Amino acid sequence: MTKALKILLVALILSALAYLAAIFYLQSRDPFIKWDWSKIDLNKVCYPKEFLWGTATAAYQVEGGFTNSNWNWWENQTLPDGKPAVLNHQKCGAADDDWNLYPIDIQLMKKLGVNAYRFSVAWSKIFPYPDSVNTIALRHYQDLCDSLINNNITPVVTLFHFTYPKWFLDSGGFVYQKNIKYFVKFAVVVHQALKDRVRYWITVNEPVVFAYEGYFVGEYPPGKSNPQLAAKVLVNLLFAHVAVYDTLKKLSKDKEIYVGIVKNITQMDPYRRFNLMDNLIAYFADLNFNQAYLKAFKTNQFAFYLPGTINFKAKVPKLHQSIDFIGLNYYSHNAFKFVGDIEKSLNALPYPGEQLTDMNYTVYPEGIYRAIKRVSKLGFPIIITENGIADSLDNRRYAFIRRSLYAVSKAIADGYDVRGYFYWSLLDNFEWNLGYTKKFGLYKVNFKTQKRYFRPGSKAFIEVINLWKQKCLNKSTSYVKQ
Ligand code: FCB
Repeated sequence: MTKALKILLVALILSALAYLAAIFYLQSRDPFIKWDWSKIDLNKVCYPKEFLWGTATAAYQVEGGFTNSNWNWWENQTLPDGKPAVLNHQKCGAADDDWNLYPIDIQLMKKLGVNAYRFSVAWSKIFPYPDSVNTIALRHYQDLCDSLINNNITPVVTLFHFTYPKWFLDSGGFVYQKNIKYFVKFAVVVHQALKDRVRYWITVNEPVVFAYEGYFVGEYPPGKSNPQLAAKVLVNLLFAHVAVYDTLKKLSKDKEIYVGIVKNITQMDPYRRFNLMDNLIAYFADLNFNQAYLKAFKTNQFAFYLPGTINFKAKVPKLHQSIDFIGLNYYSHNAFKFVGDIEKSLNALPYPGEQLTDMNYTVYPEGIYRAIKRVSKLGFPIIITENGIADSLDNRRYAFIRRSLYAVSKAIADGYDVRGYFYWSLLDNFEWNLGYTKKFGLYKVNFKTQKRYFRPGSKAFIEVINLWKQKCLNKSTSYVKQ
């Protein structure tokens, strides 16, 4: 072998090693896992004695009767491409009429055997104007909590789940830090009304989705496409969380309350495991959708970085010190394939053979295990605040629930501190810009008659709750301090 050939060979080997090392590094944050479900016994599950089993909803999606929120306004808007802001001009309207029918809905929860319910309080109903509180609306939430408690169902309250008063939107909403005071004021009023009934508080639901959809892709109100604004809104939502956390804790000195924030995790995986470009795209998608926030929750430093688009840094003092639990929402994972054009490559794909839900999300229950493992690194207890499937045919729901709950049980057995699981959703409901087309409900709803029907696939949820009652209640708590 000539010297030149030797040098070439060594260079080739070194480049191959460097290539593999880069791929290994890019995947190390959240390694892919896949289980052989045919070999898994789904009955081998256990959960802590005090585990919260619940269903989740959000006010705008189920209550009906909204008139003056950011979403009422948005339903009448048109997107830049001429399409209506909500699919086929659908309006939320009466939704599930849960505002009036909640006693029936609580009975539906009872049939499932759950012991908790996550719902949100409608800011626009409580504060129709910046300075006037609607006490009738407050009374409604007190009655709702009383009925839940009388039925042994623990209320878990979300303060901001994507909707707020139109006057707040007109004032710039969370684009401006100075507006956070309105959110704190709302939180104080709700806390005052519900403090004797509620111990679990969620400040903000999925800040990334709210900021991304509303200010980056422009598909939620206010329909902006401005990465800089999106970053500002995100950081202000984190500031808002800290402000509300502080305030509620100070107001609850005599009582233990738990205040958390909800982060959704979607794994960003390379379509081709050993393709560097696929890995790089997945890495940057993950950085901006997941890692930036997880890092901020840990270090109080937030950085939003997309090459050529945005480089935004901010400090959110006390964020790490202001979290009692992380609410984890998990639906699916995405895979990215480099197709020569970055923008096109960002269209997520399923892996070959992967099943899809009606949202076109991939069915990937292993992902909930990965998400728990990753979020656990922050050191906070985790409550799964949403997990569910849009499945109008109800032919995937059963396996989805059983496998997802197996994954949660495995995470607990492996020492991760998971304290509850809330299925999204109790009822079919208004799925934001997709209107009434997506059927997430354990109960199907006929929106003309407001009749609710149990979906056979939802049996899976009842079965697992029963397994927990039979097998796990006599065991002492398995909560682990991380
Ligand atoms: C989550 C939202 C929830 C619901 C589900 C399907 O991102 O928090 O309101 O729309 O998705």
